[in-house]
Amino acid sequence: MPPDIDALIEELVAREPAAAANPGAVRVVRAPGRVNLIGEHTDYNDGLVLPAAIDREIRIAFIRTDDREVSLTRLDTGERDDFSLDADRRPTGTWMDYVVGTAGAIQKTGLPVSGLRGVIASDLPENAGLSSSAAIELAAAWAMLEDASSVDGLELARVCQRAENRYVGVQSGLMDQFAVACGQTGAAMLFDCRSFESRPVALPPGIGLVVCHTGSPRRLGRSEYNLRRAQCEAAVAELARLDPTIHSLRDVTAEMLAATRDRLDPVVARRAEHVIAENARVTAVVAAFAAGDLVKVGALFAASHASLRDLYEVSSPELDAMVDIAAGVEGVIAARMTGAGFGGCTVNLVRPDAIDRLRDTVAREYSARTGLTPMVLPVEIAAGAGALE
Ligand code: GLA
Repeated sequence: MPPDIDALIEELVAREPAAAANPGAVRVVRAPGRVNLIGEHTDYNDGLVLPAAIDREIRIAFIRTDDREVSLTRLDTGERDDFSLDADRRPTGTWMDYVVGTAGAIQKTGLPVSGLRGVIASDLPENAGLSSSAAIELAAAWAMLEDASSVDGLELARVCQRAENRYVGVQSGLMDQFAVACGQTGAAMLFDCRSFESRPVALPPGIGLVVCHTGSPRRLGRSEYNLRRAQCEAAVAELARLDPTIHSLRDVTAEMLAATRDRLDPVVARRAEHVIAENARVTAVVAAFAAGDLVKVGALFAASHASLRDLYEVSSPELDAMVDIAAGVEGVIAARMTGAGFGGCTVNLVRPDAIDRLRDTVAREYSARTGLTPMVLPVEIAAGAGALE
């Protein structure tokens, strides 16, 4: 856990005279990271995803000010940065971009925001594919909005996605912000990125969720990510020439792709093949959970990973090694890369009594294979962003 509420408030009081003068007015908000169980690179194709918010989170303790200045200090590095809600600040390539972008996106909706002095703390690894950027956006939104609790979670997620797309410049889909904003304790969320409908999906009893961090940060993330999205759009543009009712890869079946494949660039066709099959795997995993068919779940996770590696080409040797090692551990039900890829984490469904075995095996084998230091993080499924009392 990041520092508890009282400790965070003390940190703020020690730094900010306004908070010291009125400690009772200090508030604390939180936003979790997320892990995606399955449905990777489907969100920006109007597809299906199955993410879960996790009990690793970002917290901000803050006091409101009426000077329209937002000032935040990171407790891990001591770094402080500030901006005016009324000025046009260009992106600087730091974590503050997510806050500035979110402030701008909220203000475009007309919702009232106010200045603040705050401290920010986190136990969510950055650049790990666990959506620390969406978590900063949602935590900042909860802090800056005068009345965040009156804003619908999905609406807030869409505002934060616009910050990411337009200000930060990553053409990401809605999954991360949705999961961080709308997650529910104890259940993954099946989210339809076309209709925006969602419902909680409980994991079968007796299954733990374990995130394994490869220790290799996401490389090339932004440019390769935007390229994948452009390739999917190229597939849709070509297929729509044959059938104008096609608006996204969600409208394309495996049979339609097979029948028209020779019209597509081979790389573009591979990307489309992944997305179409991955959507079907999300539905199949939800059904297998309901039926308690864990062997099926394992096979679907393995197929997702192989498709991301071979067709979508977003895995890495480290992610492949981590999945391979986990798959050999007795009691590991399912393993695959999670998030955008190019480094970061894997997601594993594990029998509780196998978690130590997984940790030991990863510690022993992964470093020997890659020279990197892994991190094995058992996680619980947590609620989406909000205020802490
Ligand atoms: C990143 C993006 C999401 C999603 C995943 C891949 O996390 O932010 O929108 O596209 O990659 O599934």
